[in-house]
Amino acid sequence: MKALILSGGHGTRLRPLTYSQQKQLIPVANKPVLFYAIEDVIEAGIKDIGIIVGPNKEQVMETVNSVDWDAEIEFIYQGEPKGLAHAILVAEEFLDNEEFVMYLGDNILRGGIVDHANKFKELNPDSLILLTEVDEPQRFGVAELDENGRVKKLVEKPKVPPSNYALVGVYFFKPIIIEACKNIKPSWRNELEITDAIQWLIDNGYRVEASIVEGWWKDTGKPEDILEANRLILDDIQPKNEGKAENSRIMGRVVIESGTVIKDSVIKGPCVVGKNCRIVNSYIGPYTSIGNNCEIEGTEIEDSVIMDGSKIINAGRFVESLIGRNVKIQECNSKPRGYRFIVGDNSDIVL
Ligand code: DAU
Repeated sequence: MKALILSGGHGTRLRPLTYSQQKQLIPVANKPVLFYAIEDVIEAGIKDIGIIVGPNKEQVMETVNSVDWDAEIEFIYQGEPKGLAHAILVAEEFLDNEEFVMYLGDNILRGGIVDHANKFKELNPDSLILLTEVDEPQRFGVAELDENGRVKKLVEKPKVPPSNYALVGVYFFKPIIIEACKNIKPSWRNELEITDAIQWLIDNGYRVEASIVEGWWKDTGKPEDILEANRLILDDIQPKNEGKAENSRIMGRVVIESGTVIKDSVIKGPCVVGKNCRIVNSYIGPYTSIGNNCEIEGTEIEDSVIMDGSKIINAGRFVESLIGRNVKIQECNSKPRGYRFIVGDNSDIVL
């Protein structure tokens, strides 16, 4: 079996972060979201992975190639994001008439995909889709099941959802899905929708089964989803301290990477602090991830994601914040006193 992981698209709901960073590369617990998908497919024994890349293809390729994966990885350029079914058509040559799992690169599943891959092999349907019950089905693709639990109907982001079963971004397919993708028309949002292609399978007598996701699942499409995914991943981390702590209290499950110095501070897990950081006279509270090369001084941070190279000095107390790379936030020491902002488009500030 092959794997097709999607890492294209514009990520508009995650602006301003996605002006400079491809959305699947945003870190959750200091690891790019995309890496969780790659790890899951490798864990399922798949050695042949195609990654769909789009607008920031160099960034994605460089980040993925910085790791020595136990699999062959090929990059497939999609250009404009014209839909999930379009991505499959672009990958037709790579897929080479084999069965495959398609994994959306902005999704994280706690339990991985091994059980679902086994179910696909066992039931041997034309497609196996993953479903989970959600509170806001209108945000997702939604499935309607028949009395035997077989998939009857799929709709993309319906105003009136036929059920609470959302489609998780992991799909198993036989090669017939290529023909389905070739036979559908773009939707109202001008995309070739994977839901329409799977509906084509059902309407043409092919068998589509469902597998229910038991653990948590997160689509990291919006800033609050990144913070939530960060909390969920940090809930499972194992403590490790490769840094140096002086006159500090480290409580709970905390990861401190090499080269990091913590001085006169309190760190309360679960949280991770990346490499070569300097944390002085500060409090880093639960559910916080601090990237590499950050400097935090005289500041309290809780329930937040701070990305590589950021510097936060005497800046009060932060909660539920998402701070990009190389951001500087510091106390105003000169007159006139007041907030001074140099903030990119679509930023979001709560004082
Ligand atoms: O996350 C689950 C949901 O994902 C499903 O419930 C929906 O049925 C499915 O359509 C999809 O909805 P989204 O609105 O979240 O899709 P999004 O446009 O965010 O794209 C999903 C991923 O695929 C994202 O990582 C970007 C990538 N992508 C997307 C498109 C449209 C591509 O690589 N190429 C594309 O053409």
